[in-house]
Amino acid sequence: MKKVKIGTQTAQVGDTDELSQAVADELQALIQSRAAEGKMAVLGLATGKTPLPLYAELIRRHRDEGLSFKNVVSFNLDEYEGLGRDHERSYWAEMWKNLFDHVDIDPANVAVPPSIYDDAEEAALGYGKQIWDAGGIDWQLLGIGGEGHIGFNEKGSAATSLTRRVKLAQKTIEDAAKSFGGEENVPTHAITMGVETILRARRIVLMARGVAKQKIVYRAMAGEVGSEVPASFLQEHGNVGWFLDYDAARSPKNVRN
Ligand code: PGA
Repeated sequence: MKKVKIGTQTAQVGDTDELSQAVADELQALIQSRAAEGKMAVLGLATGKTPLPLYAELIRRHRDEGLSFKNVVSFNLDEYEGLGRDHERSYWAEMWKNLFDHVDIDPANVAVPPSIYDDAEEAALGYGKQIWDAGGIDWQLLGIGGEGHIGFNEKGSAATSLTRRVKLAQKTIEDAAKSFGGEENVPTHAITMGVETILRARRIVLMARGVAKQKIVYRAMAGEVGSEVPASFLQEHGNVGWFLDYDAARSPKNVRN
């Protein structure tokens, strides 16, 4: 792993395996130090392709090395509106398939924003309150969207935004189209933790992999802070780990498009 300064921020740069190891080490240390104190570790977790190798490594550590998730509480960042938990593209289903089914977390400690509700505002407020009641998030994992969203906080999301119902950006819908078998099948709305909800986490780890993320990572780390690129708000958090693969970390200035 290499340290690379991008704008005011410092990234840890490595290959996919090195990134998974480094982030898993950090997470394992948190979980186990909390367990030693008899306390819960409150995690905010993310779906998408980016964290899959990390989740595979956590499962391996559980299976081969006895890493326990018994003292873990997990809050998912976001969920599509209208997809039931049995829908394979729901984030609920993805989290169970890619992580929770394979570790010893207590199902009662798994929370994903509601996807089916009569009153979106009430549903979102209830989720925000659940996080608050758990004592806030110790450690929040993030990916980054092609236009700089974190969670589903699309362009225009304020630093003070809280957990709420949002309309998905066209780019987000296009990026999801393949896995839904066409744009017309992608939900148009979601519930997401807000930018403020995310920034309240005591530690944030953003992971990005691949050349497609290069420009937006650079913009988020070195560009102007503001709701044009919601990930740029992370610059002001003070305890963010940026974990990038070589492709995502390369300066877009050096790359021919
Ligand atoms: P990805 O999604 O990990 O599938 O690239 C990241 C995101 O949209 O936040």
